[in-house]
Amino acid sequence: MKKTVYWIEGDGIGPEIWSAARPVIDAALAKESDIRLDWVELLAGEKAQKETGSPLPEETVRTLRTADVAMKGPLGTPVGTGIRSLNVALRHTLDLYACIRPVRHFEGLQTPVKHPEKVDMVIFRENTEDVYAGIEYQAGTPEAKKLIAFLRDELGVTKIDDTAAVGIKPMTEQGSKRLVRRALRFALDTGRSSLTLVHKGNIMKFTEGAFRQWGYDLAAEEFGDRTCTEKEPVAGRLIVKDRIADAMFQEALLRPEQYSVIATPNLNGDYLSDALAAQVGGLGLAPGVNMSDSLAFYEATHGTAPTIAGQDKANPGSVILCGALMLEHIGVPKAAERIRNAVSRAIARGSVTVDLAAQVEGARVVGCRAFGEIIGENL
Ligand code: NAI
Repeated sequence: MKKTVYWIEGDGIGPEIWSAARPVIDAALAKESDIRLDWVELLAGEKAQKETGSPLPEETVRTLRTADVAMKGPLGTPVGTGIRSLNVALRHTLDLYACIRPVRHFEGLQTPVKHPEKVDMVIFRENTEDVYAGIEYQAGTPEAKKLIAFLRDELGVTKIDDTAAVGIKPMTEQGSKRLVRRALRFALDTGRSSLTLVHKGNIMKFTEGAFRQWGYDLAAEEFGDRTCTEKEPVAGRLIVKDRIADAMFQEALLRPEQYSVIATPNLNGDYLSDALAAQVGGLGLAPGVNMSDSLAFYEATHGTAPTIAGQDKANPGSVILCGALMLEHIGVPKAAERIRNAVSRAIARGSVTVDLAAQVEGARVVGCRAFGEIIGENL
C-alpha cells in the first residue's frame, strides 16, 4: 500500500536535515507496516524562487489544498517579495488553525529543571486569530489616529493617548471552539487525563475570557458525557480545567505532572510552547504540526539556521520526530514509538549533533548525516 506524503525541502539546513531524516522515517515504517511512503516534492522558498520565479508557486498551494498529509523543512523569509513570511502565508491560505506541539523529555538530555521527565504535554495553540491577525497601526500614523478618534468619539474610550500604537485582538467563538474541539478529541482518543484552557481572561474578559467560556461550553455541549470539571470530577472522565496564563507558567515549572493537553489562544501558545520546549531540552528536538480540517502539515519548529547551512552540522531530530507524529497520524503508532525510542537511545549513547552536545554528558559530536544514521541503527 502507498501513502502520498507531500514534502517541502526548505531553505538553509533544509536539504541536509531531510537527507538524514527521510531514510529514518521510511525504515521505521517498513519495520511495522506494509505501507510505503510516496514522497512527492512541492516547491517553496528559495528553490521555488529559482525554478519558478515565485517563492510560493500556485501549484504548491493548489496541491496542498487537496492534500491530507504534508511535511516541510524551515523556510526563510524572502526579502523584497512583499510576502511577510511564507509560513504565515501558508497558515492563512490553508486555514491551518491548530498548531499542535507535543512536549516530552528525552532521557540523557540535561535541562534547566530537576525533573524534566515530569513534562508530558501536548499544546494546541490557536493559529489564525488573536493579536497575530496582523491588524495593527504604527504610532502617529493617520490610521492609528483615525482609530483612536473612533474609539474615543464613538465608543467613549477615555484611556487612550493620541500617540498610541494600536493593535486589534479578534477572537471568535467559531475559531476558539474548533481549536478546543480538536484538543478535546485528541485528549479523549488518546486517554489523556485532563485538558486545560489557558487564558488571560481575568484581564481581557471579552477575548481571552470568552475563549475560556467557549471552551467549557463546547466541552459540555459536544462531549458532556465524557468530560467533567475539576470542581465536580467523575471517575473515568476527562477533566476540563482552566488556568490563567501567568499562573500556568508557574504550574509548568512546579507541577507539570498535573497537566496533559493544553488548549490556548495564539499568543499564550507561542510563549508556552517555547518555554516548555526549553524546560525539556530546547527546540532542537521539538516537532510540530499545523492542522486544518483536511490537512496535517508537519514542520520542524526551528528556522533555516543559515550560519551552519551546508556544513553537515544541523540536528535533523526535529524533522525525524515530525515524521514520528506523521506516522502516528496515518495509523502506525508503533513506527512512531520506534523513532522516539531510537532518538532516546542515540542520545543515551552520547553521539549527538553540536547543538545538543552541551546538554549531554561526555558527548561526542557527530554531523547531521551521522546523527541520522545512528538514530536509524537504533530503530
Ligand atoms: P533559527 O531557528 O534558524 O536559528 C536559531 C539558532 O538555532 C541558530 O543558532 C541556529 O544555528 C540554531 N539551530 C536552529 N535549528 C537548528 C538545527 N536543526 N540544528 C542545529 N542548530 C540549529 O532561527 P533564526 O536564526 O531566527 O531564523 C533564520 C531563518 O529561519 C529566518 O529567515 C526565519 O524567518 C526562518 N524561520 C523559519 C521557521 C519555519 O520555517 N518554521 C521558524 C523560525 C525561523
